[in-house]
Amino acid sequence: MTDVPVSIPNSPSAADYAAEDDRALIPDVKEPFELLEAWLKDANESEPNDSTAMSLATVDNDGMPDVRIVLLRGLSADEGFKFYTNYDSAKGQQLSDHPKAALCFHWKSKRRQVRVRGVIEKLPSDQSDAYFQQRAPQSRIAAIASDQSRPLDTRDTFNNRVAEISSIYGDDDDIPRPAHWGGYRLIPTEIEFWQDQAFRMHDRLKLTRVGEAWASSRLYP
Ligand SMILES: Cc1cc2nc3c(=O)[nH]c(=O)nc-3n(C[C@H](O)[C@H](O)[C@H](O)COP(=O)(O)O)c2cc1C
Repeated sequence: MTDVPVSIPNSPSAADYAAEDDRALIPDVKEPFELLEAWLKDANESEPNDSTAMSLATVDNDGMPDVRIVLLRGLSADEGFKFYTNYDSAKGQQLSDHPKAALCFHWKSKRRQVRVRGVIEKLPSDQSDAYFQQRAPQSRIAAIASDQSRPLDTRDTFNNRVAEISSIYGDDDDIPRPAHWGGYRLIPTEIEFWQDQAFRMHDRLKLTRVGEAWASSRLYP
């Protein structure tokens, strides 16, 4: 087997670390949401785009993990992490069969990671309707037209379907949410904050849900 020629940078040297600013350790928080809000705000200011992008890991009926990026579209202490997708997609099927998932944010500009594990629920339909209506009309039509995750013979088939649905609505902005599209929330049971530190001596703070409260512990890097 020959190696595929990929560009892999060297591990940082002592001089590289010396040239960088020190990074603060993670504060000793007793609940996760205030710090999450602060880190998302930092990411929004420093990431080039999609600062709320998060990996969503699910598992299929064979126990085979799957993962893809979705956008965080809402966060609350009561309702958890909200995202929107096609309920009939691969992830939708997996979440219907196994309503547990993990999320992972990585903000390269801040050298930070947040990992989340928890249980999944569908959002109430009024929340999905409200979010759907905020989307551009073309994005709503694309959501109606897409059989997300299923085979598409040619791009023209999709374009024709989009054109057909667009012609039904014309300039009418009242494009209702299709039943196959909507939101989920992940109710967290564990949230881990990770902050890069020099020489891979990273800082990790894990919060675990205990009843209404959170237990926190530092982890070795
Ligand atoms: C930056 C980024 C944001 C994305 N946001 C979403 C999203 O919010 N919802 C969604 O269904 N797919 C989103 N996608 C596409 C998914 O990664 C994935 O291709 C799609 O949902 C199909 O996944 P599945 O076949 O595992 O169901 C995004 C992709 C990227 C790269």
